[in-house]
Amino acid sequence: MLEVIGISSWGFMLKELGFRDYSFVETVVSTYSGNIKNFAPIGVVKKGRNLYLKLFKITKTYRNISENKECVINVVSDVEIFYLALFKEKLGVNKRFPNFFLPSLTVDAPRVKGADAYVEAEAENFKTLTNGKVEVKLRIKFVEIVNPRPKVFCRCDFAVIESLIHLTRIPVFVSQKRWVEAEKLIKLIEYYKELVERVCPKSEHIKIMGKVAEENEQWKKKIAG
Ligand SMILES: Cc1cc2nc3c(=O)[nH]c(=O)nc-3n(C[C@H](O)[C@H](O)[C@H](O)COP(=O)(O)O)c2cc1C
Repeated sequence: MLEVIGISSWGFMLKELGFRDYSFVETVVSTYSGNIKNFAPIGVVKKGRNLYLKLFKITKTYRNISENKECVINVVSDVEIFYLALFKEKLGVNKRFPNFFLPSLTVDAPRVKGADAYVEAEAENFKTLTNGKVEVKLRIKFVEIVNPRPKVFCRCDFAVIESLIHLTRIPVFVSQKRWVEAEKLIKLIEYYKELVERVCPKSEHIKIMGKVAEENEQWKKKIAG
């Protein structure tokens, strides 16, 4: 039944969602390890009919996809979901929010509640890259848009996502003793915090940036001392 909709229809729906060939977009990818649900912020790029992920081998997402061969790409506009996905262990998301996930329709991977759309996909090929990364080629099995509402663009969405990405890179630079690069990211996060305070005071963004800033401050102290 689901296979009746051809691949070109998926292409149309992906375009609706903002996917463009050779442009990276930020999503949340959910997977299973046995019956344990996992979700993580991951970049995705569309090239023709396929989607590609570049995953660090150390991530659970990579481990789960290489085992299960399936995943859901959750198209998310709510930055809080990105935040929860990055800090899931620290925040105990799986225990605190048992209803955070939904079943998917065509793959052995869960969907994340609150996403605007779901792209269910299976891994077709794995290519080892440099820097401990693997490129995963995905074949789309099903696309569902659950929230087609248009949304205004807010600078704070960008600022929060950039800060979360930088926060994942600081420990890498620190472990490689690349102090100048780590300090540069710390300064950028400080700048984005100021921007969010200015542009979106009293928002959900401020709360998230507060937490990000705490982590950032700890890295700053570690580097200084
Ligand atoms: C917006 C954003 C995009 C990210 N994109 C990627 C990516 O494309 N590949 C990757 O391996 N890690 C990426 N990361 C880092 C992972 O989300 C992070 O390492 C996470 O802890 C992995 O979780 P997991 O071990 O549950 O898979 C990204 C982080 C953020 C905040």
